[in-house]
Amino acid sequence: MITTRWMGGPADVQQIIAFYEGRQVTYAAATQAAEKHRKTPGWCCLVAVEDDTVVGFLSWLERPYYLDVQGFGVHSDHRRRGIGRLLFDQIRGRLSDRRPHLLCEVPDDLLPAHLFLKAIGLPCLGVKRSSVADETDRYVFGLDNLTTAAMAG
Ligand SMILES: CC(C)(COP(=O)(O)OP(=O)(O)OC[C@H]1O[C@@H](n2cnc3c(N)ncnc32)[C@H](O)[C@@H]1OP(=O)(O)O)[C@@H](O)C(=O)NCCC(=O)NCCS
Repeated sequence: MITTRWMGGPADVQQIIAFYEGRQVTYAAATQAAEKHRKTPGWCCLVAVEDDTVVGFLSWLERPYYLDVQGFGVHSDHRRRGIGRLLFDQIRGRLSDRRPHLLCEVPDDLLPAHLFLKAIGLPCLGVKRSSVADETDRYVFGLDNLTTAAMAG
């Protein structure tokens, strides 16, 4: 059975890094990033677990009016089993009057993630064009009720 819980210590980080095999993410760099995130006020990370193994994660930042998805992934051996949907069901359950919106930016080259988000009811709301500092276009996905003001933030 797959359950979800808050991300724990280095053991969880190590398992999440395994998702990025071949993408040159080192344990030291990822742990450093996780530690930095963990200290950021409003940063949250859920993991999906099966048989004590982390099979997926979803992290976000609590912004003043919306939840800002920072990253998500499901281990390649466990995709198309509803784990991504399960994790996003959890974040949706955390929407409130104070933060009624959900926003998720995905680089333009991650088509499976685009199709996934659309399939779970988070349509593409717009595109943030690349800049000098960042050469990647980013597609912005979210709930239909997202306001222009939140997108601009
Ligand atoms: C995107 C991702 C998180 C989806 O996770 P998942 O657990 O496989 O997704 P689910 O099983 O919950 O899929 C729900 C629905 O989304 C759609 N979907 C999911 N993956 C899809 C794909 N590769 N192509 C087309 N549609 C897809 C389907 O409609 C699916 O329902 P179905 O399996 O009944 O047809 C996973 O493919 C992944 O980790 N990708 C690499 C990491 C990444 O791109 N992260 C985002 C950038 S931060």
